[in-house]
Amino acid sequence: MGDSYDEGCDYLFKAVLIGDSGVGKSNLLSRFSRDEFRLDSKPTIGVEFAYKNIRVGDKLIKAQIWDTAGQERFRAITSSYYRGALGALLVYDVTRRATFDNVAKWLHEIREFGSSDMVVVLVGNKSDLSNSREVGEEEAKNLAEKEGLCFMETSALENRNVEESFLEMITKIH
Ligand code: GTP
Ligand code: MG
Repeated sequence: MGDSYDEGCDYLFKAVLIGDSGVGKSNLLSRFSRDEFRLDSKPTIGVEFAYKNIRVGDKLIKAQIWDTAGQERFRAITSSYYRGALGALLVYDVTRRATFDNVAKWLHEIREFGSSDMVVVLVGNKSDLSNSREVGEEEAKNLAEKEGLCFMETSALENRNVEESFLEMITKIH
């Protein structure tokens, strides 16, 4: 968890993580905000959040990133989760096709509760597990194009493209 001072900060904004349970949302956030990864992390219950200060050009941006449970029964009230969010990382697991199939469901929720100009990055996580891959990069890229989303594959474990995907979202906002 970062500090909570806003001094010297040019922008403060909120972004959210969404996607099925177990795709790696919490580990992407802990990797990005604290450079931590856990193989034995527990499902998120309710809502957690972390701060990260990022320098973009000569501006200092403080990102407040919310992380919630992928499991329906552990989720907090959806409308308050999305309220005021300028960006979202919509995460699936490249080794579990069902999590990619559910991207449509999550997009539906974003469009119902999120603001219409929210920047959404589609993130295919666990790219390190190449032997058990079930979703190809091209296929996901095509979906992203069709839906007007940015797209990136990541590995929270190997710290591949994690910062890049958050930065993609942040720089698109500003
Ligand atoms: P919920 O909180 O239930 O919605 O799940 P989540 O999306 O937050 O998933 P979480 O970050 O808890 O990760 C689930 C499991 O996947 C954990 O065992 C992580 O160690 C593992 N995991 C997360 N990211 C990666 C990754 O990039 N590669 C590999 N191999 N495992 C990962
Ligand atoms: Mg979680």
